[in-house]
Amino acid sequence: MEYRFLKVQNDGRGILTLTVSSPATLNALNSEILSELEDFVDSVSASSARVLVITGEGKAFVAGADISEMAGLDEKGGLAFGKHGARVFRKIELLDIPVIAAVNGFALGGGCELAMSCDIRIASAKASFGQPEVNLGIIPGFSGTYRLSKIAGQAYAKELIFTGRRIKAEEAFRIGLVSRVTEPEALMETAYSIAEEILTSAPLAVSYAKKCLNENYDLDSEGAIELENKWFAKCFATGDQKEGMSAFLDKRAPEFKNR
Ligand code: COA
Repeated sequence: MEYRFLKVQNDGRGILTLTVSSPATLNALNSEILSELEDFVDSVSASSARVLVITGEGKAFVAGADISEMAGLDEKGGLAFGKHGARVFRKIELLDIPVIAAVNGFALGGGCELAMSCDIRIASAKASFGQPEVNLGIIPGFSGTYRLSKIAGQAYAKELIFTGRRIKAEEAFRIGLVSRVTEPEALMETAYSIAEEILTSAPLAVSYAKKCLNENYDLDSEGAIELENKWFAKCFATGDQKEGMSAFLDKRAPEFKNR
């Protein structure tokens, strides 16, 4: 499928790279780009991809939702636009495979929210993050209030959201918004080295781990422990568990079959 605003690259070994590419507006997300993104995400499950890397073209990761489009919206339009973005980002979060955000530059508003819907976030030292919506008379609308609170804690989320303050990659690292900061030229290489490490893991175990981590996000401790018991047990019904443990005991490399 050809996209106008997305570049998709498949390395043929299981790593897909998605580049949001609308540099004239710093990759700002309008409805058309969101629809392309949704179409792409819907196609990922049917592919043989095992890791997805998302990045942005040029000096931005994504500089937010498209302000030109939002400027003309009324309340009903705002609801539809917010639901569209939130739905697409939730689909990214729920993909069976790990998603790595390689944040190359501005990740503001919807860009920060896009990164937060990914499982792993790494940033170039040039990247910056923020939820500047209050400066435009709105609040985060693609689930940023929810995810930023979960990731960085509510006090920090409130500070960033109420002030609209932009933070640099190092501060994003300090608050746990990203797990690594790299030199700008090393960003993609670092993303791919994480992806490569994931490729050596048992695919079903990675996918069960993701489901378990996603599902226990909103549970109390009893529920989360019980849920982990369930997913842990399910691993023992897979061939990959038999293969992984036999290979260890035989002192050889495992050959996982994703079943
Ligand atoms: N929506 C629509 N257009 C956007 C945009 C957005 N979120 N962010 C940037 N653009 C456009 C600019 O209007 C400009 O267009 P122009 O060349 O036709 O004037 C172009 O992208 C380049 O942006 P510019 O502001 O000139 O770049 P800069 O390097 O000086 O500043 C930012 C970069 C990211 C700091 C600045 O563009 C900005 O503050 N963007 C809005 C961020 C935001 O509020 N996001 C949340 C939206 S909910």
